[in-house]
Amino acid sequence: MSADGTILVTGGSRGIGAATATLLADQGHRVVIVDIAPEPLVGTTAILWPAPFDVASESAVVTGIADIEKAHGPITGLVNAAGVFGKMHTIERVRMEQWDREVNIDLRGTFLVARSVGIGMAKRRHGAIVNVASVAGMTSGPIHAYTAAKAGVIQITQTLAAEWGRSGVRVNAVSPGFTRTAALEAGIASGALNKDLLARPTAMNRLVEPMEVAQAIAWLLSPQSSGVTGINLPVDAGYIVGTTWAAYGGLPHAPAS
Ligand SMILES: NC(=O)c1ccc[n+]([C@@H]2O[C@H](COP(=O)([O-])OP(=O)(O)OC[C@H]3O[C@@H](n4cnc5c(N)ncnc54)[C@H](O)[C@@H]3O)[C@@H](O)[C@H]2O)c1
Repeated sequence: MSADGTILVTGGSRGIGAATATLLADQGHRVVIVDIAPEPLVGTTAILWPAPFDVASESAVVTGIADIEKAHGPITGLVNAAGVFGKMHTIERVRMEQWDREVNIDLRGTFLVARSVGIGMAKRRHGAIVNVASVAGMTSGPIHAYTAAKAGVIQITQTLAAEWGRSGVRVNAVSPGFTRTAALEAGIASGALNKDLLARPTAMNRLVEPMEVAQAIAWLLSPQSSGVTGINLPVDAGYIVGTTWAAYGGLPHAPAS
């Protein structure tokens, strides 16, 4: 990975991005975090890029990446964790401004940052990129733009992996299941989401912890995954495999110990 370079984490001030930046910094890497609402990570060596960084703005991404590389050297690892959740609506009530916002940040933003960083990686013949997709991109739900955007993230991961494979750049995705970030907890607190209903369909009957997603991302950035490119790794406590069991009467309980 990047004992010899900088790892950039977008959306690094909160949630999955913050957990990933913290883990990578603890592993001894030079980590720079960017965010649209930049806040430092207390207790880590991760470096905050103090200017607000909007992944959906092409000019801001292009100049921001150039400035970060000028200040901190070549980026050899990239984690695209910036994102916004989908608004839950019936189809009649989907507002196209909201659709555009979700697609612009979650899909277009992921592509813009990956392209701005990856072209330099390809020239240097070295680098690894991890995009944060979602199980929502592999299933369906009343979050129309979000599911489409996350399916798009899984798709561009494959295309970019093929694009840069001969240049020594690996590109992979992780697809978290419902992950216990502050954003998700806020959804539960507001009543929009129900914790039991989120956990019950998963094989493991629980939510995912941000650090569990971070561990998978760190592996995909590391030389331990040197032969892996173009994959989408669910980190979902068995959400994908568990959901279909409702049709057969539900998942079995663990035997009494
Ligand atoms: N938490 C979950 O259950 C879950 C599940 C699947 C996928 N995800 C995905 O994981 C990623 C991180 O989600 P999270 O739960 O950590 O959310 P979060 O809200 O805790 O963190 C997201 C971060 O991205 C930043 N951000 C938002 N818009 C941005 C923009 N335009 N430019 C730069 N930064 C921006 C936010 O300020 C925030 O710091 C998102 O892509 C989300 O879709 C989350």
